[in-house]
Amino acid sequence: ISEASSNVGDLLEELDEGLFNLLVEVGKVADDSGLNLYIVGGFVRDLILGVENLDIDLVVEGDGIEFAQKLVTELDGEIKESHQDFGTAIVNLNNGLKLDIASSRIEYYEYPAAPPQVEAASLKEDLFRRDFTTNALAIQLNSKKFGKLIDYFGGQEDLDSGLIRVLHNFSFIDDPSRILRALKFSNRYDFEIESLTRELIEHAIDQDVIKGLTTGRLGNELALILMEKVAPEILLDLNRFNLLKYFHPDLTWTEKEYNLALKVTNIKEWLEGLGIEEEVDNCYLYLMILVRSLDKDDIRDFLLKFKFPNDLVSKAIFVKEEVKEILNLLLQSRLQSTIVYHKLNDLSIEEMAYLALITDQPEVKEWIKDYLVKLRRIELEVTGKDIIELGHDPGPCFRRVLSKVKDKKLNGELDSYDDEYKYLKECLKRLEKGGKN
Ligand code: CTP
Repeated sequence: ISEASSNVGDLLEELDEGLFNLLVEVGKVADDSGLNLYIVGGFVRDLILGVENLDIDLVVEGDGIEFAQKLVTELDGEIKESHQDFGTAIVNLNNGLKLDIASSRIEYYEYPAAPPQVEAASLKEDLFRRDFTTNALAIQLNSKKFGKLIDYFGGQEDLDSGLIRVLHNFSFIDDPSRILRALKFSNRYDFEIESLTRELIEHAIDQDVIKGLTTGRLGNELALILMEKVAPEILLDLNRFNLLKYFHPDLTWTEKEYNLALKVTNIKEWLEGLGIEEEVDNCYLYLMILVRSLDKDDIRDFLLKFKFPNDLVSKAIFVKEEVKEILNLLLQSRLQSTIVYHKLNDLSIEEMAYLALITDQPEVKEWIKDYLVKLRRIELEVTGKDIIELGHDPGPCFRRVLSKVKDKKLNGELDSYDDEYKYLKECLKRLEKGGKN
């Protein structure tokens, strides 16, 4: 293993001023405690790549929890979480930044995919326990060595040549989730997976190591993947490596799903062009596309097993339950706006985006547009006050009558307050008659 080091202080200086000053301050607190302190992992990788990353992972050569306590006294903040066994702490600073602090440590695995055991060790050993060379870089923060890049495993060179490479042959056996991480990082940065690393992945997959991961960890990795910009590409890789079966035996992500996912951007642009303010969450749509070949019960089981949030479960089931029915409805001729309004009014923006995504029919998109820019914004000018003034006592019939007026307005049959008022009176009269009969 060759050890190279250089200084990236100039890159740190290009960071947001508040963040830069914080790193300097944190380094000084470490100086005062006589401890070596480093920022490590994804932050360093992204700093060198010029990608913004606000995940601050610190490693201190010494007691991380003691250091966290000193930090919160000196820098105004609080310890949000600490784990004595692991020597880790999370610090929330009052300026809104969050620091993850770890004691440099050696983690060893008692058996494949077991939770890591922890012992005190040097920075180098800590870094050696990490997944890829590009994620095993550190920058020292102590004043005298501020900005010193520590690169024991050739991470900088791999960043330059765009390679994802493990540090040792047991990496994927120790932690099978790294297989998914390798596919995520290689797609995110458009890096190659180095050839030996690729062989190790294939070998680990042959050994079925992913089976050893808990559903919590697997689900977490899938959720992280779905949040990536390049999720459609990563899912193609998961399919290629035959990994989707660990989530559900019937899941697939072929060119068909991929092409649909690529259209998500077009649909979002279309919605933006209509002036729709709600943000469509890509990951919801990707998930809806992913589960569309499963049946309803399987979708529910899959999402609950991997602990996806409940609102997502209902969105995904929507894919199965209602889509066909709504699409058919929106294709009917002489369809009334009121009916469209009541059908689409219960849907989330993602569900409407999904409808627009899977249809080739311009009528469907027209109706969605009509609902979003016009129908849902229609408000009545008459109110309950008008009904009271017409001599009625407040009661449940108010809502019924007002919704009748609204339906007529949605259909474009009432153009002014006077129209609404006239129709309101008609409805009340009819109601009275009905009551008397
Ligand atoms: N790490 C690891 N093995 C894992 C997960 C994490 O070695 N299975 C190490 C890597 O050094 C990684 C760091 O822990 O850089 C932080 O992990 P995480 O926050 O998950 O990843 P990042 O590299 O920060 O990536 P992202 O940009 O996706 O947050």
